[in-house]
Amino acid sequence: MQKRLPLIAGNWKMYKTGDEAAQTAKRLKELVSGVSDVEVMIAPPFTALCQVAVEIAGGNIALGAQNMHWESEGAYTGEIAPGMLTAAGCRYVILGHSERRQYFGETDQSVNRKIRAAVAAGLKPVFCIGESESQREAGQTFSVLDKQIQNGLESFLLQDLESLVVAYEPVWAIGTGKTATKEQAQEVHAHVRQRLAEMIDSGFAQKLRILYGGSVKPSNVKELMAMPDVDGALVGGASLDPETFSQLVHYQG
Ligand code: PGA
Repeated sequence: MQKRLPLIAGNWKMYKTGDEAAQTAKRLKELVSGVSDVEVMIAPPFTALCQVAVEIAGGNIALGAQNMHWESEGAYTGEIAPGMLTAAGCRYVILGHSERRQYFGETDQSVNRKIRAAVAAGLKPVFCIGESESQREAGQTFSVLDKQIQNGLESFLLQDLESLVVAYEPVWAIGTGKTATKEQAQEVHAHVRQRLAEMIDSGFAQKLRILYGGSVKPSNVKELMAMPDVDGALVGGASLDPETFSQLVHYQG
């Protein structure tokens, strides 16, 4: 099987001022300095990006953003353009997070435009998908995910997707303390990989990193990461404290 470099990504959501984020990043940089077999990414709020970029310079932590607009500039009050993120030092951008979909009207179509714009700007998109609790209970998990994938990646070509990362985040597991079991995560990840093999290309699907997100913490990361199709984690709450996040990065012990 193709070896995929695990990615442990921290989504700091709407937490931390610039100074607080810089302090966390500084400590994290020390804690993960020896790590080379896992890629580490943190996505602070926009206002902290530049300060965090300074702190992590020269280390092995990649910077990411949590959202962006698809246009390169314009009269879009309150929005941030892809080029602004790259200029701030970002290499990744999280797109289509369920909180964006739920509270800010993000749709599969807007996510599609954003993925396209991210790729064009040289940012690696972390494309988030996931089903709600009621959808899971109704047996719709795969159909919901298939639709999100189909629409989110509609009319993309293989060469556009080389830097893509997918994050499976069941909505019912985000910030709730309820983690998908390792078997549930594996089942979905294998399905997503298969779906993308059919839709795009099997070699691409084999190389694609699929992260799991939703209440990942030091006590469950190891068993999740042991699953063959789980290639990393997108972590909210447990990424805010550098010591805890470092434990996740060091999941191999
Ligand atoms: P959580 O959030 O780890 O706090 O559940 C995950 C996410 O929303 O990316």
